[in-house]
Amino acid sequence: MVKVTFIEASGTERQIDAKEGEPLMYAARDAGVEGIIAECGGSAMCATCHCYVIDAPDGSLKDPLSDEADTIEFMANEPQDNSRLTCQITATPALEGAVFKVATGR
Ligand code: FES
Repeated sequence: MVKVTFIEASGTERQIDAKEGEPLMYAARDAGVEGIIAECGGSAMCATCHCYVIDAPDGSLKDPLSDEADTIEFMANEPQDNSRLTCQITATPALEGAVFKVATGR
């Protein structure tokens, strides 16, 4: 398991265990993290799993592929340089301790 933290819009911090090899979105959704809706089921099409990367160990995150980057640009609410779709981030041991803030709205 990989421990990561999600900060909900209310400010509540939720530390969750993500199964290694699975997208973070599933772990967050299954743990009931508020704001992770995942309407498209992890296809990088809806941006309802949009989060901001607050802290992540060096080298733990690959750059977004074009599908993810396009969805963030055109679908996400208030995209920022640190925006990511959590359905496109695979839980790996390198991510242990990473912190994500749930974006509000779509
Ligand atoms: S679940 Fe739809 S973009 Fe991530």
